[in-house]
Amino acid sequence: MISLGIEGTAWSLSVGVVDEDEVLLIENDPYIPKEGGIHPREAAQHHSERIGPLIKSVLSKVDKVDVVSFSQGPGMGPCLRIVATAARVLSLKLGKPLVGVNHCLAHLEVGRWKTGAKNPVTLYVSGGNSQVIARRGKRYRVFGETLDIGIGNALDKLARYMGLKHPGGPRIEELAKRGKKYHELPYVVKGMDFSFSGMVTAAQKLYDDGVSKEDVAFSFQETAFAMLAEVSERAMAYLDRDELLLVGGVGANSRLAEMLKVMCKERNAKFYSPPKELMGDNGAMIAYLGLLMFKHGYETRLENSTVKPDFRIEEVDVSWD
Ligand code: ATP
Ligand code: FE2
Repeated sequence: MISLGIEGTAWSLSVGVVDEDEVLLIENDPYIPKEGGIHPREAAQHHSERIGPLIKSVLSKVDKVDVVSFSQGPGMGPCLRIVATAARVLSLKLGKPLVGVNHCLAHLEVGRWKTGAKNPVTLYVSGGNSQVIARRGKRYRVFGETLDIGIGNALDKLARYMGLKHPGGPRIEELAKRGKKYHELPYVVKGMDFSFSGMVTAAQKLYDDGVSKEDVAFSFQETAFAMLAEVSERAMAYLDRDELLLVGGVGANSRLAEMLKVMCKERNAKFYSPPKELMGDNGAMIAYLGLLMFKHGYETRLENSTVKPDFRIEEVDVSWD
């Protein structure tokens, strides 16, 4: 069975195709803002212009499609609506079932699929989201999350302030490698939740005070990633789990992965992360979750295919293992 998935919750626009065993192809046409952050309407305009040619190009490379999957939320309303419209049209045109999926769950399930992690605590870190998630029975539960902005947005914001281009995460990672001196920043963990916006302000102040970009980046990464490692570890201890899965765009950061690996090693736990091309937003993860759900009896009728900008992972009934 072959599933085609469309992703376009924010800046990324991607179409992927998977079968039961592997990712067959991924084609991306991301919206890259000329300057500043992402403007929802500009991103949606970009998606509406590019989605047709992107789908056409993918369809020309596959023999058949059995399921049309799309990310139904969470994300920016105007972007989600373009993707949902394209998915509905494609499903009607091909006469194939439609499956709307939760974007966060897609990050998580593609990670389990490609790493073999069974029942992990998942650290999901991206632009808009930062959550520690684990499954309890038929639901995934969020055990800890950011109280304000996602870690990726925090990195992007700090990078922009220091005159670096979007996306800032990879640029901060490069700078941090050359950082030498650690400057203290607010370490904000409240119970199982955490917060990054105060840290961004404090880091911006360091930069204004003349601290080098390298040291600001280094201090920011060390502090923020230690917070994420602490909460992940606490969730593993509470839930008695010995697997940690790292997913989401910020998961591509090797310093974060390294800190989590050390923590896992100390607890005798296994650390997993999927290949980089499946970490950030991509159509293949949507295609995979759509396929998994379809095989377990899910199908989205047209009247239920409206977008869900605030869709939470806890809302999904999980009937697969
Ligand atoms: P979501 O809707 O799940 O929040 P997203 O739209 O933010 O997803 P992702 O591709 O999951 O998209 O994540 C993008 C984020 O990842 C950006 O903030 C980017 O700066 C960050 N990022 C990418 N690579 C790295 C890296 N090497 N180090 C740190 N951050 C990174
Ligand atoms: Fe994402």
